[in-house]
Amino acid sequence: MRRYPAALARRMRALLRRRTTAELQSSATIDLRSPGIAADPFPHYETLRREGSVLFLPQNDYWIVLGHEAVRSALARPEHFSNAPYRDVDAVLLAADPPVQTVIRRTVARLFSPAVTARLEATASRLSEALVRPELDAVANYAIPVSRGVTADLLGLDAAGMDDIVHAEEVSRGTADPLGNFVRSLDALAPRSTMFGALTGAGIPEESARSLVRLMWLAGTTTTQRVISRTILRVIECDSDQRALRADPALLRPFVEEILRLHPPEHMVPRLAMADVELDGVTIPAGADVRLCLSAANRDPAQFGQPDRIRFDRGNARHFAFGSGAHACIGAQVGRATANIAVATLLHRSAALHALRPLHEIRYFATEAALSPESLEIGVMPI
Ligand code: HEM
Repeated sequence: MRRYPAALARRMRALLRRRTTAELQSSATIDLRSPGIAADPFPHYETLRREGSVLFLPQNDYWIVLGHEAVRSALARPEHFSNAPYRDVDAVLLAADPPVQTVIRRTVARLFSPAVTARLEATASRLSEALVRPELDAVANYAIPVSRGVTADLLGLDAAGMDDIVHAEEVSRGTADPLGNFVRSLDALAPRSTMFGALTGAGIPEESARSLVRLMWLAGTTTTQRVISRTILRVIECDSDQRALRADPALLRPFVEEILRLHPPEHMVPRLAMADVELDGVTIPAGADVRLCLSAANRDPAQFGQPDRIRFDRGNARHFAFGSGAHACIGAQVGRATANIAVATLLHRSAALHALRPLHEIRYFATEAALSPESLEIGVMPI
């Protein structure tokens, strides 16, 4: 198949971006759900942030928090900004607030022991190695199976158990209530995981253990998949980055960190204002629907020099791809390691990675909260 030059693809993306920037709007008129904006929300976040770091968006009927410091402050105040909006995903940990959440979190954190993390890294490596082909869809045939396989191993599910979950997800996709139906199937399958037994053995009631197993699957698979896909996309669209990573494999870690910063798998996390609360000089009313925009905070020029650029030398600059505070991602180490291992495997098994189709033809899963390639056909040139 034909190989498309990265420079051409970059020029086309820049042209597309210019078209989007022409339509930049104010907080009064913007609708972050509109497809044109979801396809490239970043310039819009920037324009909005110049208006204010905390804004009400009437078209979306929610408050959005865009500044790095304002997002940090809200994440640090669960008593003012509750996680209740997540109650349909999991009411036990993710949607619970401290101090109840703190107790559960302590038990769940024990499941991520150094021994388990090491086992999951070995699984990520084994799965990645087995999936490399001369040509492959890096989303469907690489990022997704690696992320699912590692999460299934964390849950202690055998291959049949994982297949049943994947099947249930596919079936529920075509229904009127995809999340509701998938959640019900996951709950039915949860007792087949060893994690369920570990949680109930630690004194957690069965219904709560089902909810936690379900949360792990939902929180661990799509997020990690998106990070792997995004990182591979950047490698194939930027020759100089690919050369740098091949010349010095130690750069992969800061590179993945930059991908996480620039493209967190969830652009925003929801919160409920528990009272009239002040944030960066703005009063948000009690009961308001608030979205903390991690993507915008991660590109705040007040925190990051050249915020839209990948730099290998940012050191410990603090991004919010994994959240922060009471609900900071409990699987961050596993997600990070899995992404690093999957991309490192593709790099060391190839002399070059390249796109098999023009990059501007890539279709994205694009919503107000996520922007991720749906498929990514790549060529893996043998060494
Ligand atoms: C690279 C991939 C990942 C990213 C970017 C990510 C991101 C996040 C974010 C932003 C939150 C905070 C949500 C909020 O405050 O509203 C979170 C929480 C969480 N994540 Fe992850 N995650 C990733 C991988 C994983 C994995 C692999 C697991 C485990 C299987 C996991 C399990 C969880 C859990 C259980 C929570 C809830 C923690 C709590 O409420 O105390 N995540 N994640």
